[in-house]
Amino acid sequence: MPPTQLSAQERELLLDAARKILRRAYAPYSNFRVGAAILTGQGEVFAGCNVENASYGLTICAERSAIFSAVAKTSAEKLVVRAVAVVNGDELPCSPCGACRQVISEFGENAIVIFKGQQNYQEMPIADLLPESFRLS
Ligand code: THU
Repeated sequence: MPPTQLSAQERELLLDAARKILRRAYAPYSNFRVGAAILTGQGEVFAGCNVENASYGLTICAERSAIFSAVAKTSAEKLVVRAVAVVNGDELPCSPCGACRQVISEFGENAIVIFKGQQNYQEMPIADLLPESFRLS
């Protein structure tokens, strides 16, 4: 099934939600604040921010934070991620890291990812960002 297109309104809704949660980012080590928002198959929006740790490797990215929050609130069986938007406090080009791509793919094999490219925000299907994602079945 190909990714379903996002409306301009859905795209703005997600970008706004991602920008709104930026202020909650906990990034005292990198000072790189990231916000993410997902749109589910049921039309709900969940947001998350990066949360760093003095033990750097324990840091969680905004995208996974948003998805895990959605699982905690709706249950994993019902969750379909239709789209993910990611923004950062510096408006720098920033696409999701490899770990986040794998997690997005788990819940949204047809998800559309919105991120800041070299110039503008761009949309790309997760399957293009992570071909051959890992699956057990
Ligand atoms: N980070 C995210 O939250 N999402 C991304 O897509 C890239 C990186 C965070 C992790 C860390 O807190 C900071 O950005 C710098 O790597």
